[in-house]
Amino acid sequence: MKCKLKFSLAAVPVLVAAMLVAWMAHAQKTEPRSKPKLAVSIKPQHLADALHAVIASEREVYTYTNAHRFLEQSFPNPCAMFRLISEAAASKGVEFSYVLRSLKPISQRNAPETEVERRGLESFATRPDQPYYAEEMLGGRWYFTAVYPDVAVSQSCVSCHNQHKASLKKDFKPGEVMGGVVIRIALEL
Ligand code: HEC
Repeated sequence: MKCKLKFSLAAVPVLVAAMLVAWMAHAQKTEPRSKPKLAVSIKPQHLADALHAVIASEREVYTYTNAHRFLEQSFPNPCAMFRLISEAAASKGVEFSYVLRSLKPISQRNAPETEVERRGLESFATRPDQPYYAEEMLGGRWYFTAVYPDVAVSQSCVSCHNQHKASLKKDFKPGEVMGGVVIRIALEL
């Protein structure tokens, strides 16, 4: 009997601890911590860099995986695909846009259209691995504009451009900057 009582007393702290744990688990389930109000805002440059990482990766993978098909007239080359997707995004009313640009373009519609685009493309002559950032006022609205070097990531970039009859430059080399990806983010909504 005495021994039994001793055992029961020894079990009390264990029981209390178990009840405490069960109560805490229950409290956590029933009273979730109220979500703190986070004062977070993304800088336009970080947004542009993130968009560019996705756009450039998609373009790279598309170019590698389809390099053998670009000679088929019916199959869109990486630059035609780039424009189709950017136009599809623009049609959804997003507050950013992106285009391909070059100082020596195959198509004149890809020549720089603003002073910032021109300065960005020119900056690659001395800083081929650095993006160019600026703010510009267009149509009465301020924009953050980023110009990223568009590099010949595959031999197919170089071959197609060098062979194209409308190309103003015929001696591109793999790894060379062929133009720029311009990403523009509206600063006024
Ligand atoms: C099979 C052909 C082909 C391949 C491959 C190709 N391009 Fe193009 N690229 C074009 C054509 C055609 C245009 C002009 C598109 C237009 O009419 O807007 C163009 C446009 C561009 C432009 C805009 C300036 C200009 O020349 O009009 C850049 C920059 C560019 N390409 C870079 C690249 C890079 C980098 C790659 C590889 C990742 C690549 N291209 C692969 C055919 C090609």
